[in-house]
This record gives sequence, C-alpha cells and structure tokens, in this order.
Amino acid sequence: MDPFAPTPEDRFTFGLWTVGNPGRDPFGEPVRPVLKPVEIVRKLSECGAWGVNLHDNDLVPFGASAVERDRIVAEFKATLEDCGMVVPMATTNLFSHPIFKDGAFTSNDPRVRAFALQKTIVAIDLGVELGAKTYVFWGGREGTEADACRDPRTAIVRMRDAMNFLCEYVKDQRYDLVFALEAKPNEPRSDMYFPTTGHMLHFISTLARSEMVGVNPEVAHENMAGLSFVHAVAQAMEAGKLFHIDLNAQKIGRYDQDLRFGSEDLKQAFLLVRLLEGTAGGAPYRGPLHFDSHAYRTEDQDGVWEFARGSMRTYKILKARAAEFDANPEVRALIAERRDAKLDPLLSGYTPDKAKALRALNLDASAIAREGLRWERLDQLTIEHLLGVA
Ligand code: GCO
Ligand code: MN
Ligand code: MN
Repeated sequence: MDPFAPTPEDRFTFGLWTVGNPGRDPFGEPVRPVLKPVEIVRKLSECGAWGVNLHDNDLVPFGASAVERDRIVAEFKATLEDCGMVVPMATTNLFSHPIFKDGAFTSNDPRVRAFALQKTIVAIDLGVELGAKTYVFWGGREGTEADACRDPRTAIVRMRDAMNFLCEYVKDQRYDLVFALEAKPNEPRSDMYFPTTGHMLHFISTLARSEMVGVNPEVAHENMAGLSFVHAVAQAMEAGKLFHIDLNAQKIGRYDQDLRFGSEDLKQAFLLVRLLEGTAGGAPYRGPLHFDSHAYRTEDQDGVWEFARGSMRTYKILKARAAEFDANPEVRALIAERRDAKLDPLLSGYTPDKAKALRALNLDASAIAREGLRWERLDQLTIEHLLGVA
C-alpha cells in the first residue's frame, strides 16, 4: 500500500475551475479543451479526491433556463453519487460578467448590488442542493483603480450590509451553511478591499452573525502581500475562524500564480501542514483541504491529472515529515516550553499584587540576552526532515 495515496479521510478537494482550467492567460488562448463538469468529477474521483467545489457558473452557464439548469444539476448529482464524491463548498462567480466590472456588493450602482445579491441567493440554493456546508466569498472585483470613486469606508459598509443580508437569508431558509471570506490584495483589481486574512478577521467581528462567518485563506494571496501565510492561518485557527483553506504555491512579488501545492517555498508548505495537522500538539484543522491551483500551461490533459495527484501526494508526504519532525527528541527538547514556577503565574490574569511583584523583580537582562537559543540547529533539523535525511 502506498502510504501517500489519497483517501476520503484526507478530505482533499479541487474546484471545477482548477483542474478544468484550460490554460487561458492574459497573453494567450486556451491550450486544453474545456472538460464537462461530470468528466471532471469522474477523473477527480479516480485520482483519489474526496470532493469537488464549484462556482454557480462552473456548472450552470450564465443565463441558462430553469429546465436546462435542472437537467444539468440532476446529471451532476447522479455522477457525484456514482463516484462517491461530495461538494463540500460552493461559491458565486461575481467577477466574470461585465456587469461586475467595478465590483459586486461594493459597486456604486444599486442595480449591480441587487444583481449580486440575487445571483448569490440563487447560487446558495444551488450549493445547498448539492450538499455544500461552506459558502466562500471571494470579492474578485471588489476594489478600485480610480480610488476617488468611493470612500473606502462605504465599500466596507456595503460589504457588511451584503454579508448580514445573506446570513439572514441562510438562517431564514434553515440551511446548514457557514460563510468563509477569502482575501486577496490585488488582481484583477489594482487594489482590493479586505486585502489580507487579518483584514477579513476584523471585518467578520463587526457582522451581526459573526459566529457563522470565518475565513478561507489562500497561500498565493497572502504571499502576494509579502506576508507569512502560516501566521495568517494560525491567527484564523486561534480565533476559531479557519472554515476553509485554499492550498497552492506562489513566488513572492508575482501575479497570482496558483501553482501546485508545495512547488514553491517548501519550508512554508511544511510548516503549514504541520500547523494544520497539529503534529506539534496544537488543535488540528478538520475542514476540507482544497487545492485552488491549476496545472502549468505547458500541460495536456494527462498533465492536469498528474498535477492533481501531485498536489495531494505532496500534502501527505509533508504530513508524514511533520509527524517525524515533531516526534524527534532533539526537536522536542529544543522547543520544549520553558517553565518558571515563580514567574509563570505573574504573566497573565492581572491583579495589583502581580503588578507589584513584577515591579520588584530583579532580572539580569544582560545575562538572559547572552543565551543562544539554538534556532539555527532547529532550522537545520527542519531542513533535514524536509530533505528526508533526519
Ligand atoms: C482567485 C481566487 C479564486 C477563488 C474562487 C473561489 O484568485 O482567482 O483564489 O480562485 O478562490 O473564486 O471563491
Ligand atoms: Mn487565487
Ligand atoms: Mn482562492
């Protein structure tokens, strides 16, 4: 048995738009044929994925009649069942149609905002019908070039109105569904609102039903902002807000590359998997592991399935390496928490007496500062585990 072969317990998912990406880019035409959604489901299930996610229009073309919609959805559901595949997440395409050229929920035009709400309500119904438990919001066009067009605070208020409205809709319908907000700093807009996971986390705390809204951080997006993805994910986990995750890879300072997970910055990928799996002892993430990435434009269709298998395989290899790393006695000794029976009680839970005790402390700052922490050794062990020699 291949220990790195994917199983349903791994909860690996791909979007219809990811493995279905035909390789179009701003400079060139598609290099691969467009696959039918049911073909994608079959192939993904053969590759060992657990589920498939979609935007409304990945499945039901924009403007399809009700009859056409029902036919497509019925065929799709039958294929899911046949393959034992699930749809854990769904989302709305609020970026492709030209009506969204200046945003959806944040547009200055009430007709556009109404259209965005209407489209999302219909798409939520579709997602729930397919079994989705998480609904992602990525504000692809929510941003500006001519920034004087609106007060950025107005954009925030409009986004809040939309989220509050849609949360009530979900409650009203008694749907078992939570929202996950996905940040991105730019692309396709010059500057997008809520550019990082941290911005999203604060925004969520201002919502009427904040308990049903979390984040969907993406590796590439946090890297585009030049920030540590691992830290962003950790903050979301600590806040109980990691509802979903978009795994891929990205070189810093580039456009959104959506590369195969683990294909860039392997150390970050390792630390991310270690965090998600809780191998160091923290509470693990138990939601879907979604690969929001696509194969290189150099690939034919076989290359796409190679890419899909590789994404899952890399995750599982990193999971095994992380478990070995955290079981290594030297690693454990290096990162063991330093305990101090006298000082520890003083460090949290303010009382006037603790403040007084802190004032009276006589700590030798220079002596403490002289101690080497041995993080060089720890990082070398990290690298050696990654390289498979430790
Ligand atoms: C991107 C985004 C999208 C979203 C998707 C789901 O940069 O294009 O990452 O792929 O994740 O639209 O909302
Ligand atoms: Mn992206
Ligand atoms: Mn994404």
